[in-house]
Amino acid sequence: MDSSPLLELQGVRACYDTIEVLHGVDLAVPAGKVLALLGPNGAGKTTTLKVACGLIPPSAGKVVLAGRDCTGVRPEELARRGLVTIPEGKGVFPNLTVRENLQVATYSGRKLSEVEAMSYERFPRLGERRNQLVGTMSGGEQQMLSMARGLASNPALLFLDELSMGLAPLVVEELYGIVAQIAHSGVSILVVEQFARTVLGVADYAAIMVHGQVRAIGSPAEIEQELSAAYLGG
Ligand SMILES: Nc1ncnc2c1ncn2[C@@H]1O[C@H](COP(=O)(O)OP(=O)(O)OP(=O)(O)O)[C@@H](O)[C@H]1O
Ligand SMILES: [Mg+2]
Repeated sequence: MDSSPLLELQGVRACYDTIEVLHGVDLAVPAGKVLALLGPNGAGKTTTLKVACGLIPPSAGKVVLAGRDCTGVRPEELARRGLVTIPEGKGVFPNLTVRENLQVATYSGRKLSEVEAMSYERFPRLGERRNQLVGTMSGGEQQMLSMARGLASNPALLFLDELSMGLAPLVVEELYGIVAQIAHSGVSILVVEQFARTVLGVADYAAIMVHGQVRAIGSPAEIEQELSAAYLGG
């Protein structure tokens, strides 16, 4: 990899109760780059993100952020250091409006009017729907809101878990276009997907995770061939 990593996982192991699901994960997100973490159901992708953002303590190994050992550091502290996670399932409040959901993002010290201006510029559709109850919006619009809320705190490192889940291919393409813009603005991004080739269009690097380990890592072109094998259980 051609630049120093902003985030690095070294030999990370993690368990739920007594069952180990990550068996020594090594992964690096270079500064200002997009790394796609791909792999089938249950491979350990979400668990990897949870360890990296401090939600689950690893049973072995290290999490290094911007050259500092952050193993065991609390999620709130990592958030203060610029790490934002857009979780699987979006994490938006369906019974609140778009604007009320954005209000949640003002804890970082920004005014609601600023957060709204930023969000509606990047996602004009959210502006048109600012007073709509989020539960009545399309899945793609909800994903936009989730991203807008996360971006409001100006992350240095962004985690995206299954952006494409349940969305039509055209919507996924639109969202990945926005991910590419975010990356161009200098944010480092770790994006998890099961099997969305669209992500390879915006990723600088891709890693394939199978059974709690990274099986292959490389450029999207290099990883294309490995992908089919991973999903065929090879
Ligand atoms: N809270 C939990 N308690 C017990 N086991 C869990 C828990 N969360 C995940 N697991 C198990 O850990 C393993 C890895 O799960 P994880 O959610 O990290 O996979 P994933 O790659 O994100 O899968 P998917 O693509 O389906 O989201 C799976 O075997 C899963 O059953
Ligand atoms: Mg997952």
